[in-house]
Amino acid sequence: MPAWLKDAVFYEIYPQSFKDTNNDGIGDINGIIEKLDYIKELGCNALWINPCYDSPFKDAGYDVRDYKKVAPRYGTNSDLYRLFGEAHNRGIRVLLDLVPGHTSEEHEWFLESKKAEKNEYSDRYVWTNGAFCGIGGHPYIGGEADRDGCYMLNFFKCQPALNYGFLNRTADWQFAPDHPACIATREALKDIMRFWLDHGCDGFRVDMADSLVKEDDENKSATGKIWKNIREMMDSDYPEAALVSEWSNPHQSLKYGFHADFYLDHVGNGYNTLIRDNESEGGDHSFFKKDGNGDIMRFLLDYLPKYDATKDDGFISFITCNHDTPRARRTLGYDELKVAYATFLTLPGVPFIYYGDEIGMRYLEIPTKEGGFARTGSRTPMQWDNSKNYGFSDANPDVLYLPQDNAADAPTVEAQKNDPASLYNELKAVISLRHEYQDLNADASFEVIYAEKEQFPFVYRRGNLLVAVNPSNTKASASLKGEAFIKENDESKTHSALELIHSIGSASFSGTTLVMEPSSFAVYKLV
Ligand code: NOJ
Repeated sequence: MPAWLKDAVFYEIYPQSFKDTNNDGIGDINGIIEKLDYIKELGCNALWINPCYDSPFKDAGYDVRDYKKVAPRYGTNSDLYRLFGEAHNRGIRVLLDLVPGHTSEEHEWFLESKKAEKNEYSDRYVWTNGAFCGIGGHPYIGGEADRDGCYMLNFFKCQPALNYGFLNRTADWQFAPDHPACIATREALKDIMRFWLDHGCDGFRVDMADSLVKEDDENKSATGKIWKNIREMMDSDYPEAALVSEWSNPHQSLKYGFHADFYLDHVGNGYNTLIRDNESEGGDHSFFKKDGNGDIMRFLLDYLPKYDATKDDGFISFITCNHDTPRARRTLGYDELKVAYATFLTLPGVPFIYYGDEIGMRYLEIPTKEGGFARTGSRTPMQWDNSKNYGFSDANPDVLYLPQDNAADAPTVEAQKNDPASLYNELKAVISLRHEYQDLNADASFEVIYAEKEQFPFVYRRGNLLVAVNPSNTKASASLKGEAFIKENDESKTHSALELIHSIGSASFSGTTLVMEPSSFAVYKLV
């Protein structure tokens, strides 16, 4: 486990939309470099950059045409190498996005693979042995190539599935995962990883990491074997590099070698019930919605078994949002976001802040772009200040990658920096607290102190810190058990005094009863 992950706070950058320095309306690598000081000032010490490789952009870059080449719209490989160096100079690590399950249909491997003549890449993708032989249960394309076969898709039509084999095989065109062609695919992936790691990148966020071997068993054991092999390479040659999976099943991913796994927004899961319950039927009962009458137990019943089963293997990553998910500002106001993000940043694991969430950027209802569809509204250009295009670009507004929030009260970094009570300043304060107290590290102990069905507040311990959260619009109180006030490893079991070290709104103690005002959050230190 790379030690730096324990204190890492990530910032996810969608490169199209962060900062444009060459005035073409699209963000670029030099723009990210220009804003590294901003990221550092916010307190983030790690970046995840969405795919920035050469691509036809039919899925916004997740359709990779050349894994080893920066897309010209973002700059050059040299720019990216410079970004690694400039980030490191500021103590910031950089994860790239690794897309192992599929390439673009324009990748040269695929252009070779679809040829009728057999060649080195014929088996790099999943092909059936006849143009009329489809693939039951999986999306596929037939009749598009000279090769007499159908090929499997991994996501959109433009993304043919790379061949890592099938665990349970029912046809002779399905290879075993240890077939030399499948091993060659794995080795090609490792070669790509080595390429970027050797140039200074600090690891990868891994796209659809669970999707490699087809017809895998329910434990994804064959896919897991590939990741274990890759982790061996990392441990021996790049022990400081990190692997974060898009898997959302830490029981599996962390056992197979990932250091952290995202807690993604899946309708009805624990994370979803906290800030995104609006996606299910029956009204929005998100825990962090003031009038949602939420229930912290919906979260804990999902999260705690995951946390307990995996805390020795790696980390669960809470996200404020990501490029696939509607921004939380769609349904939550600033007060609600402050309490929600403060909670995410004080729970165990490695947190990720999606660019623009630190100022509460809105989800915009806009037409699709580059395969974004409903996701497009969360991908709009960063709002830096009140100059042209909110300081994102000097281009004409009509060539911007996506339109921007035109509301009179559109949030900007500049305005929020100058407002001590802003979401930006609150987030910055909690990030700083997280760095200051080891008890808030990713691996520091976590214990639920008070959580009752449909009740507020929610109280938990991190080491010798007590964190209390009342997102509701009513005053809430909780009578805490004596153990809540005894310091870790204190043999004499004496009650400690409490020192308030951070708060939103107000909270107070009357004996062992905690009383919290509406929309409040408090961190106490046992002294
Ligand atoms: C998950 C990525 O987050 C998403 O944006 C992409 O479209 C799919 N994987 C396919 O790569």
